[in-house]
Amino acid sequence: MSSNRQWILTRRPVGDIRDGDLVLRPDRVPKAGKGEVVVRTEWLSLDPTNRLWMSDVPQYMPPVELGAPMRGVILGKVVDSGSDAFEVGGFVMGIGSWSDYSVSPAAMLSPVPDIPGIARKDVFGQFTVVAPTAYFGLLDIGAPKIGETLVVSGAAGAVGCIAVQLGKAWGCKVVGIAGGKDKCDWVKNELGADAVIDYKQEDIQQRLKALLPEGIDIYFDNVGGDTLNTALAQMNLFGRIIQCGMISSYNNEGSYDVPQNYPMILMNRLRVQGFIVTDYAARFPEAFRALTKLYVEGRLKWRQHEIDGLEQADQAVRLLYTGGNTGKLMVKVADLG
Ligand SMILES: NC(=O)c1ccc[n+]([C@@H]2O[C@H](COP(=O)([O-])OP(=O)(O)OC[C@H]3O[C@@H](n4cnc5c(N)ncnc54)[C@H](OP(=O)(O)O)[C@@H]3O)[C@@H](O)[C@H]2O)c1
Repeated sequence: MSSNRQWILTRRPVGDIRDGDLVLRPDRVPKAGKGEVVVRTEWLSLDPTNRLWMSDVPQYMPPVELGAPMRGVILGKVVDSGSDAFEVGGFVMGIGSWSDYSVSPAAMLSPVPDIPGIARKDVFGQFTVVAPTAYFGLLDIGAPKIGETLVVSGAAGAVGCIAVQLGKAWGCKVVGIAGGKDKCDWVKNELGADAVIDYKQEDIQQRLKALLPEGIDIYFDNVGGDTLNTALAQMNLFGRIIQCGMISSYNNEGSYDVPQNYPMILMNRLRVQGFIVTDYAARFPEAFRALTKLYVEGRLKWRQHEIDGLEQADQAVRLLYTGGNTGKLMVKVADLG
């Protein structure tokens, strides 16, 4: 292929992403400048944070500029390199764009780790972001002890499903919260959660009280909003809240619901900590080893929700904010063998 297509951010979404916020445009294949790498995209990861990157709100990275290609996490093959660190023909993953071909600073890319028994697209889907997020969030911030109670919101999602399974592997009593019967059945019957709450059908507050009369020691929060507020009220003394994500607010233009139960942080001496998985980049090999071991032992499962075609990306990303995805959402951009 000698031409390129790029999704361009033409307008900052107001509320939900709408047609026309992103536009797919033809372009030339870029050339690598000094220290840059051009990557032919094989897979594009779609992530809840994409909505934040489209907004001009305070966040952990600069927003995508209007008129620029939409930023995304990609897996692909190096086709041009201005960096000694990457040779043409190698597979890499990291930050690129929603394009057939992306140009990225070499520092934003890394080689795809060779994990025996796990296909490249699964290594990409699980090991680039989501599994290390669950691993470091739960291990370092949650600091779980055998017999403690763990509640995971977004439990059937990409990060949440790994957090549920790590919680079980590390000896916790785990309650997952997810939307809909199919997702809840999967979390309980396949992932091994002790119990699950369907937040679209059930009252979270009442169900948490019934399922965990002993209270919550660790809350792995993927959603923020009312669910966080409810969990705060039922946390135990010296409990920990892992502030991983707040997807219920990402379409609110940076206006977040402040939990009414915030004072419980003081009353119950809670530790609440946010984190971004890249904070742990230097420790990724540790996560890969631990997660691979669990996978080989049959104690780690995941689902990937795969969409075909770069042209589908702007419709597909919306699934994340309606619960329409079942597992790690990814777009196949090209078949690179
Ligand atoms: N801190 C980090 O470094 C880091 C890294 C990766 C991801 N994250 C965060 O982790 C969270 C999960 O990300 P993911 O990639 O694993 O996505 P995901 O869970 O696979 O997909 C998003 C899910 O969020 C749920 N959801 C959407 N709107 C919701 C709402 N209003 N209330 C409750 N649940 C809602 C839906 O599940 P249901 O069908 O169950 O509603 C949806 O399937 C996100 O908040 C993301 O920003 C953080």
